[in-house]
Amino acid sequence: MSMTGATKLAGVMGWPVSHSRSPQLHGHWLERYGIDGAYVPLAVAPDRLETALRALPCLGFQGCNLTLPHKSAAAALVDSLSASARRIGAVNTVVVSPDGELAGDNTDGYGFLQNIKHAAHEWRAKAGPALVVGAGGAARAVLAALLDDGVPEVRLANRTAEKADELAEALGDARVVPIPWTDRHDATAGTSLLVNTTSLGMAGQPVLDLSLADLPPEAVVTDLVYTPLMTTLLSDATARGNPVVDGLGMLLHQARPGFAAWFGVEPEVDMALRQAVLAD
Ligand code: ATR
Repeated sequence: MSMTGATKLAGVMGWPVSHSRSPQLHGHWLERYGIDGAYVPLAVAPDRLETALRALPCLGFQGCNLTLPHKSAAAALVDSLSASARRIGAVNTVVVSPDGELAGDNTDGYGFLQNIKHAAHEWRAKAGPALVVGAGGAARAVLAALLDDGVPEVRLANRTAEKADELAEALGDARVVPIPWTDRHDATAGTSLLVNTTSLGMAGQPVLDLSLADLPPEAVVTDLVYTPLMTTLLSDATARGNPVVDGLGMLLHQARPGFAAWFGVEPEVDMALRQAVLAD
């Protein structure tokens, strides 16, 4: 489709941005729904983030996504924050309002929950304790989503104990229980959900060293890593019969609210979308 002045524009700001799969993702939806729109990668250096965000209204952009390393910085630069963006302290989706104001949202936690619910229909956050491994930005979004969805307890295991303590304090919810890194194997006992939010298991990284011996057989296991789709954690869990949910779906689901706001269509996550994003 050729572009005109009426073409609706959005994109993703990152540094580097070449690894982002968001252009394929939104590009697939634009084509599928026959929308006169474009979604482009925007390589924005950290010291130009403010200038780039402020340029969105005058360039006629509907908004943008933010990826590494901009998510936290953007939270301090936009004009308003949604409840989840405030809670998570980071923005992954910006919507330009008709008067040119920038509204910041964070849809990572939403994407995380939607992905699990889509893939493991019987899972409920309320069903039992969760074990979350890692205490970075991704963990913060996961924890906020689980707490909002009624999880009774979240055990938080991180190599660097101080970061888990800081995150628990920032969330200010007694259901978050930091546990020593060496106790992570035992902490799988009695859980309904196990989540890896670290980069361990990613191609080129060491695998996550975690014994599943005490994990209940019905506990859902999910990994935010999606390169490869079937991480060692997920294949070990599959081998012992646990339901598993791969991390690609979180990326797909987190994109839905932005697309709907910018282009006016509620898009669907399905196999065709997965294939479009996996294809290079
Ligand atoms: P993100 O924003 O994607 O969550 P991050 O903030 O860099 O990324 O967080 C990375 C997480 O992976 C952290 O919890 C980190 O543990 P530390 O806080 O101890 O650094 C975890 N991580 C990375 N490499 C690790 C390793 N080799 N062993 C254990 N944890 C690791």
